[in-house]
Amino acid sequence: MSSASDRLTNESLADIQGFITSGYGHLRSAAYLFIRMNDAVGGKHWIRALEPSISSSRPWPVDARGQKTRPASAVNVAFTAPGLAACGLPATALCTFPTEFQEGIAAPHRSRILGDTDESAPASWEIGGPDREFHAIVLMHAEDEPGLERMLGDQRALIGQSGGAVTEVPGTLQRGYRPETDAEPFGFHDGVSQPRIAGISGQGVPTGEFILGYENHYGLIPPTPVVPRDLDPAGLLSTLANPYHAQGAWRDFGRHGSFVVYRKLRQDVVGFWAFMKEEAIRAGRGADPAYMVWLASKCVGRWPSGAPMVLSPAQDDPRLSDSDDFLYASDADGLACPLGAHVRRTNPRDVIKPYPQAQSLSMSEAHRVIRRGRTFGPSLFDPGLLREPSTDASRRTLLDLVDDGQPRGVHFFCVNASIRSQFEFVQQTWCNNPRINALRDNKDPVAGDHGGEGQPASHMIIPTRSGVARTAALPRFVTVRAGAYLFMPSLTALRFLASRELNT
Ligand code: HEM
Repeated sequence: MSSASDRLTNESLADIQGFITSGYGHLRSAAYLFIRMNDAVGGKHWIRALEPSISSSRPWPVDARGQKTRPASAVNVAFTAPGLAACGLPATALCTFPTEFQEGIAAPHRSRILGDTDESAPASWEIGGPDREFHAIVLMHAEDEPGLERMLGDQRALIGQSGGAVTEVPGTLQRGYRPETDAEPFGFHDGVSQPRIAGISGQGVPTGEFILGYENHYGLIPPTPVVPRDLDPAGLLSTLANPYHAQGAWRDFGRHGSFVVYRKLRQDVVGFWAFMKEEAIRAGRGADPAYMVWLASKCVGRWPSGAPMVLSPAQDDPRLSDSDDFLYASDADGLACPLGAHVRRTNPRDVIKPYPQAQSLSMSEAHRVIRRGRTFGPSLFDPGLLREPSTDASRRTLLDLVDDGQPRGVHFFCVNASIRSQFEFVQQTWCNNPRINALRDNKDPVAGDHGGEGQPASHMIIPTRSGVARTAALPRFVTVRAGAYLFMPSLTALRFLASRELNT
């Protein structure tokens, strides 16, 4: 049996889709194709044709100068539960998937858990809602837009070859990019803190928190979806690594796969900065951009450059923009980084009240997610202005942001071995919970589900040396426009899905 920190072999890495282990940071252009499989045989042909182009986690080759040769593009694929059924996976196998995956993100009680209500309700989603179900998503990453167009053309040609057995859901193609500034649309440096996978870095979060088939935080092999042995006479899939299951009768469909959550999150950038301006005026500071940036940073928990507030409480410090090496014990009351700030509640690190430090660290580790997002929509302003808020240019821009009517936000993807205890836990128990960490009525100002009908108001609470600042009721700056719970199978499991034996 593998231990939590055993290094993944190259053979294993070659079986794990690359999206799980790499953010493809150098591939700035992305597109996501939403697929329906209208007939299982055609679907299998499509998967068989697609599989050779799927990017794995195999280490990138090293050239003569010792430099890694980075791929110029990456293709990955993930399936919804109806998608796996459409490939011919029988109910005996589907029922071994976790309940939340089987039900899907748009099931009414999952919407309640996630706060996907009102404007964020699945009924109005562009894709993934009740009438807009899909089966698979093809994730494409390329170095630039021409490269992405070529990939898109290739993928559409592959779909075309199926003669209608596989179709793209019309009008749902999503495009994303990684901006040169690395800022999300509110203007803050994004994509900084990321858990390291122990099986890859030698230390970090146990591999089984992100890749099925390995020990997780609890020292257990996480539950894995299985298929009856007679569906796999060729023996493509391995027998179960989990020692607590009867050996032999089942094959491990999940090994080297993971679960992926997709949320298209639209950001009201003008609303966000208008709120900060109103709060500055309400606090008696006048329309002061420096105060606005301070308040917005308190909401995020990092300054616009990315510098953690706990390391640089008084002002932004671009030298710390990539810093992820900090804890909260020295700031137990949130004087530097408020307890309600986005980063502090999505990863509370060593302070979860009332637990001791070691227990808090352990609890935090059990709920990490790997974020794999891309931005959509043009940025409304130069985020560099937030680093010098007192200049005339910042003042002119920040005080009078005008909505250009263009949708913008992030395609939020996250990878986790358990959607329930990782992504859903973070969203429900840490972002949407007004009472987390000894707070009273403070949901996550960035990702919380504020303002739902009949809900009490939520406020951002900011402890300072001269007293506690409390904002007016927080509006919802982020709304959900699409979503899905997906399974990203191993290369072996993909070949199994495409196999003739899986009769339909
Ligand atoms: C549009 C919505 C969102 C925006 C604008 C946003 C923005 C940010 C920013 C600026 C950071 C700090 C930089 C970094 O560490 O990467 C961050 C960190 C983070 N966010 Fe979000 N976020 C959003 C939604 C979410 C959601 C929905 C979740 C999960 C439910 C989430 C989970 C996290 C986590 C886990 C971190 C790292 C915290 C840490 O380890 O210190 N975010 N986010």
